[in-house]
Amino acid sequence: MANLNLNRQDFGRPQDVGNVLTREETLALLEEWVPNERLRLHMLQVGAVMKAWALEKEELPEKEAHKWWVAGVLHDADWEKYPEAHCRIIIEELETRRIDPTIIRTIASHGPRYFGVEPHSKMELMIYVFDELSGFVHAAALIRPDRYQGLEIKSVLKKLKTPSFAAQVDRTDIEDALSRASLDLEAVVPFVIRHQQHVTLAG
Ligand SMILES: [Fe+2]
Ligand SMILES: [Fe+2]
Repeated sequence: MANLNLNRQDFGRPQDVGNVLTREETLALLEEWVPNERLRLHMLQVGAVMKAWALEKEELPEKEAHKWWVAGVLHDADWEKYPEAHCRIIIEELETRRIDPTIIRTIASHGPRYFGVEPHSKMELMIYVFDELSGFVHAAALIRPDRYQGLEIKSVLKKLKTPSFAAQVDRTDIEDALSRASLDLEAVVPFVIRHQQHVTLAG
């Protein structure tokens, strides 16, 4: 696997705080950069749970929660076209566009083991928590005839303990993310189920 270490901890410029992509601009970038619908849905799901967490748990205003959504929706924007340079390309694009540094650093924080960026803020910690977990919950829903309907936390927890199920999802990353955020699966899994089940490709 390519070395994806970004070799830096600072992103964007402080004077760009508040310069945020609109919903339309974010979806346009997603559309342009990510032809793969499965990946696009994953990004929209992470965006949805990020925003819901910001509103519900952090009690942030809509304007702040929108930043969480943008970071979630764009975190894998360069993965399909530039897997060898994920997530450097999207970060550089957002820096060129002078986007709010909190959004850029959050995107850079979604895989500390790969990108070498330590998540510090709540927004950064939560993208790390949600990235793998959101994908895992979706995989657990997809194998059921009723998909998300009736999907229980205990069946997700059981699958997490089954290494052969969704084997590409690294359980140690999930554990590491949860412990950094001082959260547990019992709190986060139902939240993920609740907030990503209705997400569609329309955003
Ligand atoms: Fe990623
Ligand atoms: Fe992801």
